[in-house]
Amino acid sequence: MITNTELEFKGDLYPSKIVSFEHDVDSVFFHSDNSVILKVTIVRDSLIRFRYTTKGYFSNDFSYAIDKSHSHGYNFLEITEELEFYKIQTSKVKCIIQKIDMRISIFDLNDNVLLEDELGFHWEESYEFGGNIVKMSKASKDGECFYGLGDKATQMNLKGKRLENFATDQYAFQKDQEPLYKVVPFYIGLQHKQAYGIFFDNTFRTFFDFCHERRNVTSFWAEGGEMNYYFIHGPQMEDVVASYTDLTGKPELPPLWALGYHQCKWSYFPESNVKEVTAKFRELKIPCDAIYLDIDYMDGFRCFTWNKEYFPDPKRMVAELAEDGFKTVVIIDPGIKIDKEYSVYKEALEKDYFCKRADGPYMKGKVWPGECNFPDYTNPEVREWWAGLFKELISDIGVKGVWNDMNEPAVMEVPNKTFPMDVRHDYDGNPCSHRKAHNIYGTQMARATYHGVKRFAYPKRPFIITRSAYAGAQRYTSSWTGDNVATWEHLWIANIQVQRMSISGMGFTGSDIGGFAEQPSGELFTRWIQLGVFHPFCRTHSSGDHGDQEPWAFDEEVVDITRKFVNLRYQLLPYLYTMFWQYIEEGIPMLKPLVYFDQADTQTHYRNDEFVFGNQILVCPILEPNAIGRRMYVPRGQWYNYWTNSLVNGGKEMWVDTKYDEIPVFVKAGAVIPKYPVQQYVGELEFDELTLDLYYKEGKEKSVVYEDAQDGYDYKKGRYSFLTFQVTGKELELNIQLHKEGKYDTPYSMYKINLIGLPFKIKSIEIDNEEVAVDIEAIERDNYLIVDKEFNVLHITGK
Ligand code: GLC
Repeated sequence: MITNTELEFKGDLYPSKIVSFEHDVDSVFFHSDNSVILKVTIVRDSLIRFRYTTKGYFSNDFSYAIDKSHSHGYNFLEITEELEFYKIQTSKVKCIIQKIDMRISIFDLNDNVLLEDELGFHWEESYEFGGNIVKMSKASKDGECFYGLGDKATQMNLKGKRLENFATDQYAFQKDQEPLYKVVPFYIGLQHKQAYGIFFDNTFRTFFDFCHERRNVTSFWAEGGEMNYYFIHGPQMEDVVASYTDLTGKPELPPLWALGYHQCKWSYFPESNVKEVTAKFRELKIPCDAIYLDIDYMDGFRCFTWNKEYFPDPKRMVAELAEDGFKTVVIIDPGIKIDKEYSVYKEALEKDYFCKRADGPYMKGKVWPGECNFPDYTNPEVREWWAGLFKELISDIGVKGVWNDMNEPAVMEVPNKTFPMDVRHDYDGNPCSHRKAHNIYGTQMARATYHGVKRFAYPKRPFIITRSAYAGAQRYTSSWTGDNVATWEHLWIANIQVQRMSISGMGFTGSDIGGFAEQPSGELFTRWIQLGVFHPFCRTHSSGDHGDQEPWAFDEEVVDITRKFVNLRYQLLPYLYTMFWQYIEEGIPMLKPLVYFDQADTQTHYRNDEFVFGNQILVCPILEPNAIGRRMYVPRGQWYNYWTNSLVNGGKEMWVDTKYDEIPVFVKAGAVIPKYPVQQYVGELEFDELTLDLYYKEGKEKSVVYEDAQDGYDYKKGRYSFLTFQVTGKELELNIQLHKEGKYDTPYSMYKINLIGLPFKIKSIEIDNEEVAVDIEAIERDNYLIVDKEFNVLHITGK
């Protein structure tokens, strides 16, 4: 029944010849002889949607993934009919539709083929469920590479792989295991150094085959629903990712503390244990902003309740933790315990909010609390009710963030680990079975949670984290990669998963640092922290049924290295926040796999380990025990070794020496990296200067710094500060132009500029065209300079 092949099936049906077409505003409809309709919609010049029906009419057009505010509109559209084909041309691409069989080819304006149907659209009728198994196959050339698809635990380049999208609670998953927790049916193809994207917006179980079944064919298919996909023209990967992210939406800014370090375990309880952990962070001076309460804080795992024996006065505890700079994040699962005395259960039952089986009974399944019913989050009324449930937790008790788990949805002790497929869902007024709603269940739960937390946290910003997600979930929530294992292989997997999520529109992601299942050695934990501080979401979590996993559970060296790296993350907070800003403003992924960073360099096409954190910091984790360094590829350009400040020319693979307390980190020449002082939590210190690490380069480089009040919504009214540094280095000169935008007045009044790699001795310094009387000797000695923050041009002349 599961369709394991899209091709060799005798019952496959194909569109026959096109008999008519009509053009309606941004769409063109092509009708075949056998009732297939292809609707081509020009969303933008570089973004085209293809939708097929075999019924002779289209069903209601509804998608949870598409952001209603995505940009649309094109500059140019011309539709022409030739003898054998139709041609649709925009200002970016040409699309040819063959009359004889509806097959499609897409070209750029120089007539280079970007994507071509092999068999194109075909389908198999499903007698059992009704509707079709819808299939698409595309021709693929040798050398074509594939990226994206969310949380897949496999190599970065998906060429040669078959992947399955069906949200699954995959405890202790393995390398190459399929399917996993998230579903992002979006991939990027790269061929002849040109990139394009495909987003197959179909929530049924989907499959993607990248030249696995047949060498020169890429195909994707779904167990139901419509063949409905978007073609996104590059030619740069950044264009593809930005368009995809615009189409499926971006989050709002998280509160800055959410980018700090988070500590979690299953579970910290009772209250005294929570306090011991938080106190130890302060005592050891390892910065930490959030502490998590896993399922044991609840009364018998009933969501929205507290175990009063362990937590007699949650409001007081949360307030005391807040005093010490800790934000409390609590877990909330979808399973609602069947218990007539439990108010949430009673209310949902009364209001008929639980999912039902096809013949009427409520969907019943075992999760942590035992037998549960499950709210149908695909019903807007249920989402509204669910949002309202957060009032007490957020407004009254003062919880700052909510962690949604088990929302694949996970069901215990059943072979398929989830709901039976006959379960009914509202699907926002498009009633359907679980076959269609399964993959978006988790996202709709996170969406409802987000709206609740946001409402009651106002005027502060909400923080949500989810395990399961479908494309577009990034609008509501951050995510983590689920129940990984404390092994070196999993460190490799985590590195790729988080990069992959980043180019799949879902940037705010991290892994359970140290591994969830099993016990990491001190060395593995250390190497994981060293990578984890460069992930957008940075949280240690473990299942707690083995040893402890707080930094001090290992030896003192581990504590010191953890502190060193978490300190670095806290120093880099303005840099990280700027990355986030660019993600939500421009759809730029926070982590850039090397292929994204430099797709024109074919050396990058199969790299897995190295990535660029933000725009200017190159990171490569150490993924083996006892390492004294590693080989890595340094992309083209000039880079400074962060630890030694020595300059290397990239575009080659090289050996990099590291110590136990280092991993390879390089900074792009010309970069200006903003840094805050180390704080134990966001907002702990008031400080008077922003540190700028300036890495000299002969040539030009632009850097930006985004700041605001770090929480709240004033930034939406223009109360932010956006600095642009244009650095120009010449043989005996360094020029820094500073441009400011925004109405937010940062609390500091000076810049401390660290001059790194300056190749000359300083002769004079001018600020805004006036020579300043400074102690040049001291500057030469200390390599830094203090400047009033109100400058426009800083000019250093050398001798
Ligand atoms: C699931 C989650 C894990 C959590 C546990 C208990 O396994 O993935 O993070 O700690 O449930 O709630």
